[in-house]
Amino acid sequence: MLEGKFVVLGVTGSIAAYKSAELVRLLKKQGALVQVIMTESACEFIKPLTFQVLSQNQVITDMFREPSKWEVEHVALADRADLVLIAPATANIIAKIAAGIADDMLTTTILATRAKVVVVPAMNVHMYEHPITQRNIQRLKESGIEVMKPAEGFLACGYTGKGRFPEPADIVKFVDSIVGRAQDLKGKTVLITAGPTREPVDPVRFISNHSSGKMGYALARQAVLRGARVVLISGPTSIDPPAGLYKFIPVETALEMEKAVLENFTQAHVVIKAAAVADFRPKNYNPGKIKKQGGGMVIELVKNPDILQELGEKKQHQVLVGFAAETDEPEKNAKEKLERKNLDFIVLNDVTQEGAGFGSDTNIVKIIYRDGRTEILPKMLKRDVADAILDRVLPYLN
Ligand code: CTP
Repeated sequence: MLEGKFVVLGVTGSIAAYKSAELVRLLKKQGALVQVIMTESACEFIKPLTFQVLSQNQVITDMFREPSKWEVEHVALADRADLVLIAPATANIIAKIAAGIADDMLTTTILATRAKVVVVPAMNVHMYEHPITQRNIQRLKESGIEVMKPAEGFLACGYTGKGRFPEPADIVKFVDSIVGRAQDLKGKTVLITAGPTREPVDPVRFISNHSSGKMGYALARQAVLRGARVVLISGPTSIDPPAGLYKFIPVETALEMEKAVLENFTQAHVVIKAAAVADFRPKNYNPGKIKKQGGGMVIELVKNPDILQELGEKKQHQVLVGFAAETDEPEKNAKEKLERKNLDFIVLNDVTQEGAGFGSDTNIVKIIYRDGRTEILPKMLKRDVADAILDRVLPYLN
């Protein structure tokens, strides 16, 4: 994916700077053209010559050295870049980017570029976990900058924890999934639902389920990266919505989700219903907190609308994808849902399997099509499952 791409690699003053030499080698091996920019403090850790030799390119270390050139250069570089990668990124550079400071060649390039910016933090665990750094990272993400999670383990400062520079090969993989992605969903509107719904019993209690929202959010994120206009309708989760969404609509109950989905259905080309909608809600909401009294209690439940089934009935041009979370007779139940809800295909989750379903970062799914075909996917990160699902949506769009 990186073949022929122009990557500006910013190296900042961390002990991990030496590992970026390997990163340059791997990027070159993938066919990327690499332009290294080093901050002044990075030059204290490793010599520019190392990067010059490996990148087969002059290394930029100081924009004030050749005033006649830099003015043009930082804009030219920013314009030419397909990707600006900052690895390793210190707490200091992260803070500078978050604040919009542009006082050297690297920070000016970051501010001037319209290319994707990827930041790979590497620092002491306490610096990484400091609320100020976390807030700055959050600001970067909100501006559409990709921030790779640091690895955990032994740190050069003697501590063990989060903050380790990831393996260069993992960085290349991460970058590859971002920069090289084909914009194959450009011009398409993708509606995704995620998370659980909450059905209130009284002001302090609700009925819900274990859905974390991770699968739906991964779908939304990958669809954004592939160029789609993404509408994410989500029940309550503890994860941040991905950057670059067209619309984010937080909801609580199944009825609220139904309303939001129906309002956005007509304009959607693709609908993927990853939400775990509560099938029932309490018949009566108690406006005051229910007090404990007597031996037990009964809550009468009424059925929620089946949102996906409604969409199946209304469906015109839309590609409709559902999920099925099953514990017993998974395939039989999923096939029945595929038919009843008039779906193009259904993603089956056997939630009893280790590494699948709720809360997990990985998932094991089977995809069942209308013609009876079943495809078994291996255990993968939810991000990769998301891409696999989107890959399978494409033929229905064309
Ligand atoms: N779904 C929905 N509205 C509901 C229930 C489910 O839109 N009220 C959608 C889910 O988002 C999912 C699919 O239907 O894409 C299947 O959900 P699942 O909970 O597995 O199945 P149910 O239809 O609720 O059937 P059951 O609970 O009996 O297994």
